[in-house]
Amino acid sequence: MSAVDKAPASPEPHVMKTYGRLPIALSHGRGCWVWDTDGKKYLDGLGGIAVNTLGHAHPKLVPALQEQVAKLIHTSNYYLVPLQEQLAAKLCEASGLDKVFFCSTGLEANEAAIKIARKYGHDKGIDRPEIIVYEKAFHGRSLATLSATGNPKVQAGFEPLVEGFVRVPLNDFAAIEAVARTRPNVVAVFLEVIQGEGGIAPTRIDYLQSLRKLCDERGWLLMLDEVQCGMGRTGKWFAHQWAGIQPDVMPLAKGLGSGVPVGAVVCGPKASTVLGPGNHGSTFGGNPLAMRAGVETLRIMEEEGLLQNAATVGQFLRDSLLRELGEVPGFVEIRGQGLMIGMELDRPCGDLLGQAAQAGLLISVTADRVVRLLPPLIITQAEAQQIVDLLVPLVKRFLAAPATST
Ligand SMILES: Cc1ncc(COP(=O)(O)O)c(C=O)c1O
Repeated sequence: MSAVDKAPASPEPHVMKTYGRLPIALSHGRGCWVWDTDGKKYLDGLGGIAVNTLGHAHPKLVPALQEQVAKLIHTSNYYLVPLQEQLAAKLCEASGLDKVFFCSTGLEANEAAIKIARKYGHDKGIDRPEIIVYEKAFHGRSLATLSATGNPKVQAGFEPLVEGFVRVPLNDFAAIEAVARTRPNVVAVFLEVIQGEGGIAPTRIDYLQSLRKLCDERGWLLMLDEVQCGMGRTGKWFAHQWAGIQPDVMPLAKGLGSGVPVGAVVCGPKASTVLGPGNHGSTFGGNPLAMRAGVETLRIMEEEGLLQNAATVGQFLRDSLLRELGEVPGFVEIRGQGLMIGMELDRPCGDLLGQAAQAGLLISVTADRVVRLLPPLIITQAEAQQIVDLLVPLVKRFLAAPATST
């Protein structure tokens, strides 16, 4: 019998293998808890990668979506969609910006941002506009967004990359000043306020403030990818609000629909009229079901004080993990804000994913060595304590073992 014959049959023979998956199938959830098809219960410390803002089966969201499904799911953008205006107005109120374009995913929102920047340049007479992007950034997996992404693993095999990006290191203002002196075709700066896939790496507040000034002086667009760090996750509606600045363009997705695919690009006055009829579109973008999910998500977040909850429970979680693990050899540091938390270890720790699931906890590992927590914003302090109780012994055992992990 050959080695191939002995390999276990794939549980998903017809699904393209673009993900490494744990052999767990989740069947239902409630709040911050999910159950698999064998009845095993897990505490959700991942929130569907920052998507399940309201957790699972939220008692206010479910009936609203059921009502919407029974009324109207999709029409097309040939007609007015009143719920689009409702969600757009709410996003403008929360951000202080002007207008919104709706799509369905994070990469689509970023793709629209890149198109806005290019057209903004063309409108100013710059034929080959350039956008400043960052080392270790992640913006998605379409050709333009993977070209903007600063991770060679994401780009390998898909060359030639889309041109027109200039890359700089994060939080190094001298580097961007050098670009400003030498590249006359720059039209925009594009970055995550907290890099997510890059390992929960925050952009410094003073750096963001200096960037805002530089963009104003140069007439560049400041484009902040808040796909992962936005929508209340850090304890404010948007992570850049901790720096007291406003972007010109802000792509959103993930948590905006609490699990229903919704993407958005929110724009300030410099960018909000760059795209006109025929310049951009998305069949599913802004459909009534998606918009209702967004409207209800924001309404429930306000009703339940979830920004404050993200800030308080997030602080508790970071403090508790640091207290328990800070002195353990192999622990490097804990980063993040609110409920966007990364714990860096001194070695690759992908094995912790399966070990945590076995212990009944869903987490992720990003940038090889960073344990990432992105729980639903409804998480209670008692549940956060349970994350600590489950995770700390696993990390201690992992770090005590010889460093052989992936
Ligand atoms: C900051 C950021 N931008 C964009 C994306 C891409 O979003 P999507 O997977 O919805 O296309 C992600 C996804 O992880 C992200 O974290």
